[in-house]
Amino acid sequence: MNITKSAESFPEIATDLLVVPVGSDLKSKTLDQIKESSGQDVLELAKQERFKGKAGQSFLMRGLKGLQAPRLLLVGLGGGNGELDDVLLAGATAARNAKEIFARRLSVLTADLDTHTVEHLAIGTRLGAYIFDRHISKSEDSFPGFEGIDFLGSFDDSVLEKANHIADGIIIARDLFNETPNILTPAVMADKARTIATSFGLECTIFDETELVKRGFNLITAVGQGSENPPRLIHLTYKPAGEVKKRLAFVGKGVTFDTGGYNLKPGNSMLGMHGDMGGAAAVLGAAHAIGQLKPDGVEIHFVVPTAENSISGRAMRPQDIIKGYGGKTVEIHNTDAEGRLILADALAYIQEFKPDTIIDLATLTGACVVALGEYTAGLFTNDEELASSILKAGATSGEHFWRMPLTKKLAKGLDTHTADMKNIGPRWGGAITAALFLKNFVNMDSWAHLDIAGPAWAEAETPLSPPGGTGFGVATLVNLVRGS
Ligand code: BES
Ligand code: ZN
Ligand code: ZN
Repeated sequence: MNITKSAESFPEIATDLLVVPVGSDLKSKTLDQIKESSGQDVLELAKQERFKGKAGQSFLMRGLKGLQAPRLLLVGLGGGNGELDDVLLAGATAARNAKEIFARRLSVLTADLDTHTVEHLAIGTRLGAYIFDRHISKSEDSFPGFEGIDFLGSFDDSVLEKANHIADGIIIARDLFNETPNILTPAVMADKARTIATSFGLECTIFDETELVKRGFNLITAVGQGSENPPRLIHLTYKPAGEVKKRLAFVGKGVTFDTGGYNLKPGNSMLGMHGDMGGAAAVLGAAHAIGQLKPDGVEIHFVVPTAENSISGRAMRPQDIIKGYGGKTVEIHNTDAEGRLILADALAYIQEFKPDTIIDLATLTGACVVALGEYTAGLFTNDEELASSILKAGATSGEHFWRMPLTKKLAKGLDTHTADMKNIGPRWGGAITAALFLKNFVNMDSWAHLDIAGPAWAEAETPLSPPGGTGFGVATLVNLVRGS
């Protein structure tokens, strides 16, 4: 549900929940106004309940005189100059409170806020409002959904437009991630991508299994060949209206379910592997957002190799040797290191379109989660400038990246006597050898690999996300394109 701008004045607005964001300086012209008209000092009451304007805090009040709305909610904005994480959290807090009390129309008063804060507050509100309940039977305890979310204020219309586009992208990514593997097969992912392309005027090429075999995408077909749900390669292209000054390519790992293959994962490690397409979700979410934002001067390729890593008499085996799309041969040493195989073919393919920069996103290694924890993505790149742009775009998106090394000495761990390389190295430095494997397929000096195995997924509920897909990566890609 998009957030709309409302021109109504707040005492008259017939909303279920009126929200006032308040920073930790506890100054608010809106609350001063309410104090004057209602004769009640809401802030004083809130303080008595230990409300300090901290992000994540809230204070709910009913039946204020002079207001049409039955309830008023204060949400803490935190201190300083609208710290991004705090502002996102404030928006999410408003939406979560509304869901809890079944307030179906939510109205946020933004008179005291700058445009930057309004944008992030809107994104936070949309993310906090997110529910994935399509497989749960409805009961009287399930929130029936929002009828409207509006922001009151005098900000420019484009602020909410942008926020809505980014939030749409993140939500699409979450929906894709959270959809179950029996439903979201590679073919269905391709259909969803085609829908995005038609909705926003992107070019769309999809190679089905026959085409993949014919064209020599042998690493993608090797990963997918054990499954009844055949693989696809998805390629959407955004072309700007005017001159193209720069070409970018985003590539996302789209393993719709990772059993591990013959190197079968133990039961507990297999749970969650429907989300092994978190990179694909981020890339398609970004396509959805960018298709609406329509940035100038930049052509963007969105590429998703998608396959199900399954077992059958046809599945790839350890020690199979496969010649990839780029002509290099790979000896399979572990069928569970499948993401790098499908990415290798996609990376080789997209270079034919001469992008200036390629960024791939993948839930690639458990080792990266061990190294950085579940909130931080690993950033591997051969381009110093790209490293700082990604770190900056991450910082303006509330997404955390940490630069990791492409340690040259570890590359020999991929050596084998029988092929150009094998697909796993020794145990130590698993996230790095995975990145070095990908680097073998990149003949460019501006490439980044983002290992998002940790942050793509929230194991437990957070204020900004229910358990499941987080949509991690979408905001960073979009902000990278926007140059902020
Ligand atoms: N999809 C997994 C990586 C992963 C692990 C994602 C945990 C999210 C959470 C990947 O395909 C995989 O299985 N990697 C192996 C690599 C190993 C065989 C070298 C791993 O990380 O154990
Ligand atoms: Zn795997
Ligand atoms: Zn995987």
